[in-house]
Amino acid sequence: MDIDSIKTQIEQEVQNIASSGQMSEFKFKYLGRKGIIAELTSSIPNKPKEERASFGQEVNRLKSKLNILISEKEKTLSSGLSQGGLAVVDIGMPGIAQELGQLHPITQVMEEICNIFMRMGFQVVEGPEVETEYNNFTGLNIPLEHPSRDAFDTFYLKDYDRLLLRSHTSPVQVRAMKEHKPPLAIIVPGRVYRPDAVDASHLFMFHQIEGFMVDRGVRFSDLKGILEVFAKGIFGRDIKMRFRPHFFPFTEPSAEVDISCIICKQKGCSVCGRKGWLEILGSGMIHPNVFKNVGHDPAKYTGFAFGMGIERIAMLKYGIDDIRLFFENDLRFLKQF
Ligand code: PHE
Repeated sequence: MDIDSIKTQIEQEVQNIASSGQMSEFKFKYLGRKGIIAELTSSIPNKPKEERASFGQEVNRLKSKLNILISEKEKTLSSGLSQGGLAVVDIGMPGIAQELGQLHPITQVMEEICNIFMRMGFQVVEGPEVETEYNNFTGLNIPLEHPSRDAFDTFYLKDYDRLLLRSHTSPVQVRAMKEHKPPLAIIVPGRVYRPDAVDASHLFMFHQIEGFMVDRGVRFSDLKGILEVFAKGIFGRDIKMRFRPHFFPFTEPSAEVDISCIICKQKGCSVCGRKGWLEILGSGMIHPNVFKNVGHDPAKYTGFAFGMGIERIAMLKYGIDDIRLFFENDLRFLKQF
């Protein structure tokens, strides 16, 4: 190819360069060690003697023209504009979106429950997950022979005498009442542990919210009213509630609380076992022995307590049929909340 047509080719190619990558390729093609300019230079000695000098000059001129074109083009490239006036950096191109995280559904439901009670004046308190046997059982009037104290029903810490992973949030009743004088209105969210075989409704770790109120003259009707505000706040205004007599060592009287089935509206379905009612929590009036254990006079103070599993509330609220889904870290599940 003669020098003139190489020059025309260079001029066309420079115009089409639109990125620094293309610029490098272009430089390599013409100025590289085996590039076109090097090839032309090394062909000089092969030319007939009388042409060599002028051919050499032409090659040199071509080379300086090339260098000028390159430096001009590099300026327009770095200012973001190619010769056609089009943006080389496409400022209209969508950016790389940062994926937004969100709160875990259990955290969301826990906050929702806490907010309802906080609006009624309850204070949020937390307690440790490693507890003493006293706070978890003895202080709560749970006798030594009670089956829940068995090693099959509670995780004891092997090398620490009388320490365990709390099996419910109720030990915070003991801690809070020992530390503070009534009036108290407290809720306690947190993790609890039980050595249960894992299935669709059991895990070895789950979350509870405990609540209690202690003062002079707190009555069972206060418990009912407060739990009604809670249940309607979470499940909607048209649910019904019922209190079923039950037994807990730390409350007397005790009751389990059901809501009318939100799935079938009491027509009978598999979730409520055709009963039309769903159990949501345990509750009762704090047992006089518990007051004695924490140093308050049961003749002076009364109080109520309740405890619920957050996973269970979340499962009922969202119609989730397997508790394991919460902890598999599958974003296809978690993103729905
Ligand atoms: N601690 C009880 C449980 O884990 C629930 C409960 C709390 C019951 C407070 C009554 C009063 O099952």
